[in-house]
Amino acid sequence: MPSGPDHIGTGTAPVPLHVAIIMDGNGRWAKARRQIRTFGHKAGVDALRKTISAAPGLGVTHMTVFAFSTENWRRPATEVSDLMGLLKAFIRSDLDRLAREGVCVRIIGDVAGLPADIRECVDEAHQRTRDNSHFFLQVALNYGAQADILEAAKTFALQVKSGEAALDDLTPERFGGLLSTSGLPPLDLLIRTSGEHRLSNFLLWEAAYAEFVFQDVLWPDYDGVSLKAALDEFRRRERRFGAVEASDVASA
Ligand code: FPP
Repeated sequence: MPSGPDHIGTGTAPVPLHVAIIMDGNGRWAKARRQIRTFGHKAGVDALRKTISAAPGLGVTHMTVFAFSTENWRRPATEVSDLMGLLKAFIRSDLDRLAREGVCVRIIGDVAGLPADIRECVDEAHQRTRDNSHFFLQVALNYGAQADILEAAKTFALQVKSGEAALDDLTPERFGGLLSTSGLPPLDLLIRTSGEHRLSNFLLWEAAYAEFVFQDVLWPDYDGVSLKAALDEFRRRERRFGAVEASDVASA
């Protein structure tokens, strides 16, 4: 089912095709258990597994998760290296299963700025799952939306400079096609856990018409039940994409 302006006037929204999640609260979850932050990130990987495996059954076909931001390098070196280790371990331990289950894995972000062993894992995940189409898992790693937008702007500027494009060719669709997220359905729903209400430089362009759901659950406690609750909230929203309902025009 398409997402976007076609849904105007259709009442409650259908199941979101593309859901993004800011998986927040690992540190607080660990602290509440008097453990180090990495303990929370480890539990966060399990929560991610549960959420990914529940998503297709709930009608979600595309999911983008924020695993590591360009700002996360500011964390203590041990936490950064533990997070990288967890990512590597996740790809090593889960790639066979994900590939078998038809999951297409795509990592977006500044992959070139990651350690060599992580880059190798990323390449392997891309190569082994690129033809899969049952479910699409996009992992934002060393990702920042502003940097992504700047890259797209530079690419278009170069296209204009080389004569491949004219300035007037620039449309939202063309620009969106230059972003690292291109090719995915429009973002329908953006979830942030842990009660924080921020975008934190995640999917700034893509979230233009997304519904936002903030859940008071710390990420390590997240699972299919939490995802279903977010989808239920999404269904209660009326999406107008900037327009008004026909009945409102008639009664004005
Ligand atoms: C935010 O919680 C979470 C992160 C910065 C990392 C998210 C990473 C994972 C869930 C695990 C690794 C992911 C993959 C794809 C294997 P926080 O540490 O900011 O928590 P706090 O706000 O409570 O301190």
